[in-house]
Amino acid sequence: MNRKSCTRLAASAILASACLAASAEIVNVSTANTTLLLDATDGAPLRFLYYGEKLPASDVTGVAESASTPLDAYPVYGMTALRETAMSVTHPDGNMTLDMAVTGVERKNTDNGEETVVKMTDKYYPFDINICYRTYKGSDVIETWAEAVNRGKAAVTLGEFASAYLPIRYGNVHMTSFYGAWGNESRVEEAPLVHGMKVIKNKDGVRNTHTAQPNVMFSLDGMPSENSGRTIGAALCYGGNYRLRVDTDESNFHHFFAGINEDNSAYKLAKGQTFTTPALALTYSDEGKGGVSRNFHRWARKYKIAHGEKLRKVLLNSWEGVYFDINEQGMADMMADIASMGGELFVMDDGWFGGKYKRNNDTCALGDWTVDTTKLPKGIGGLLDSAKKAGVKFGIWIEPEMTNSKSELYEQHPEYIIKPTNREPMHGRGGTQLVLDLANPKVQDIVFHIVDTLLTNYPEIDYIKWDANAPVMNHGSQYLTADNQSHLFIEYHRGLQKTLGRIRAKYPDVTIQACASGGGRANYGLLPWFDEIWVSDNTDALQRVYLQWGTSHFFPSVIMASHISAAPNHQTFRTIPLKYRIDVAMSGRLGMEIQPKNMTEDEKTLCKNAIEQYKSIRAVVQQGDIYRLLSPYDRKGAASMMYVSPEKDRAVYYWWKTETFVNQQLPRVPMAGLDPDKNYRVTELNRIDNRPLSYEGKIFSGRYLMANGLEMPLDHNVDHHKRNDYASRVLLLEQAD
Ligand code: GLA
Repeated sequence: MNRKSCTRLAASAILASACLAASAEIVNVSTANTTLLLDATDGAPLRFLYYGEKLPASDVTGVAESASTPLDAYPVYGMTALRETAMSVTHPDGNMTLDMAVTGVERKNTDNGEETVVKMTDKYYPFDINICYRTYKGSDVIETWAEAVNRGKAAVTLGEFASAYLPIRYGNVHMTSFYGAWGNESRVEEAPLVHGMKVIKNKDGVRNTHTAQPNVMFSLDGMPSENSGRTIGAALCYGGNYRLRVDTDESNFHHFFAGINEDNSAYKLAKGQTFTTPALALTYSDEGKGGVSRNFHRWARKYKIAHGEKLRKVLLNSWEGVYFDINEQGMADMMADIASMGGELFVMDDGWFGGKYKRNNDTCALGDWTVDTTKLPKGIGGLLDSAKKAGVKFGIWIEPEMTNSKSELYEQHPEYIIKPTNREPMHGRGGTQLVLDLANPKVQDIVFHIVDTLLTNYPEIDYIKWDANAPVMNHGSQYLTADNQSHLFIEYHRGLQKTLGRIRAKYPDVTIQACASGGGRANYGLLPWFDEIWVSDNTDALQRVYLQWGTSHFFPSVIMASHISAAPNHQTFRTIPLKYRIDVAMSGRLGMEIQPKNMTEDEKTLCKNAIEQYKSIRAVVQQGDIYRLLSPYDRKGAASMMYVSPEKDRAVYYWWKTETFVNQQLPRVPMAGLDPDKNYRVTELNRIDNRPLSYEGKIFSGRYLMANGLEMPLDHNVDHHKRNDYASRVLLLEQAD
């Protein structure tokens, strides 16, 4: 152990004994309620000791000294080749091994917490690996990532370069993961970890959460449970291709690795360069999956989402209302309509641009971001005037990473698209869509200027919907050199991040939604620049119960754009009554995506009231702690969840029927997260029933509500001609004493 670090450690009571103990240097990365322990003894490989519940000082030395199985904290390939590894390289001389030893530990305070870097160097080659940890004040999330440093004279090829490795003690461990597809994102899957390897991956290149998500939870005590049980949550903060592996082998551990997907992405690390992996965010809770969600949500709102602690506006988006049929009067009408219902923002979606090629459908014009003056003679200025008149803010749709083969941009600059040499490109959406090569700094400039031009010319633009509707096809960068073609996926995302960084540096206040054909960009690699995600292109309220349920595991409701749309629904063609559509949309960032012209006056009144009530509960919904109560996946006929304010003085409870049968027995749902010793007055929101619920206005203790819940009638007490097969309730609980 070097002297400096011993002195540093001695300052901490926890670690003083480690200093006094033998030669081990114990690195303790802890948060208020969790501890991660490493043995960073100089000259030896970095060892993993412990991750979980916060350890008292008295246990740290004991745990460290009694570790029976030496587990590398970051296993590398070569000298033992038996197990899965986090990093593998080929040195310039062809040697494929790494043999790492710790050379020191550095700790420093940051604005938001602490950073710990354990430095390792290869015993022979000029190659270092730094294993980094970051903690955040007031948060139980620890981020960890790796840096590979080539101090040699020639390039080293990185074959594997995981962000992190975490051993999980073999046992009755269940994993919660997410799969899906367009319109069906964030499906929850839970299964025990069995022998063999489970791989969760993405290869889209541009978007990475339509199908699987790079986020998983491990329930250490058997079947996953919402509010109890030791649970680890892990989220890879990366917008590009990823690979998560859990290998359950003959050892006493499940071996979990997470990082960039190395497929077709071998990385040549030039001399003197450092490769920094994306971070893996980890948390631990003994309050089950719900505890993990709440830890992630708090951390995310405070540190990982643009304006994560700011309340979001209620908006109307034009897409499902008019699709490409944009015109000046139509937009002005929609603005006036949303304003009359109490909305605060109007977002004009696709269809507003194009010069030589007009964006009347999805076959052309991406890249030509000039207003189509045949549709909008007074341009964006005219729209902003209408917005001002209506008293709403204005937002606009763009898809800046893309072009079409039918566009002026592509005609002038075919070299800007992703495409291999000697081949004609394959096309995506509309049979013409192509992806711009963000590895190319000139393309980064173009993307920056699209936003810069809009926001410089029209600083009143309040909101941008940033879409991305194509994967990387045509592997090949016309910018990268021939020997670096395998860097394309990584350089694309570096370029994107750089560009977003430039945009945010100049325009820190604008709201930006990450849409990617719906929920293709639900990840913490991008959210630092984005305020919210479009959870899914699927706005069907019943399926949204599932979509938002899954999304809520890692993402807080403040980022979940959730819109009231038309019936029959445009994706499922299901007809769901407006009350139910409202009650589902109100559990996220409420918006509308509908042609108000087609709504009846009664429907508008219902929405107007809902928006007014939503505004009064928005702080609890968007900033409160989530408690998932009854899962739609349990097929008990209903789903239920609630948000509770940090002070536990207000809560909003949701209950949605998911099936309908006569005389169906539905479970009564105990609430959670309340203060047992506080009393709460119950008020139903969005009430349509002729008679109030029997407990309307009554007061119950948190203890009673959490033990028993409240009875939800099977259906609504409405006039016969208004009856239908859906039922839903939203209850406001307010502290009564
Ligand atoms: C994608 C988005 C939609 C809409 C269309 C416009 O599909 O997910 O919400 O913006 O593009 O073309």
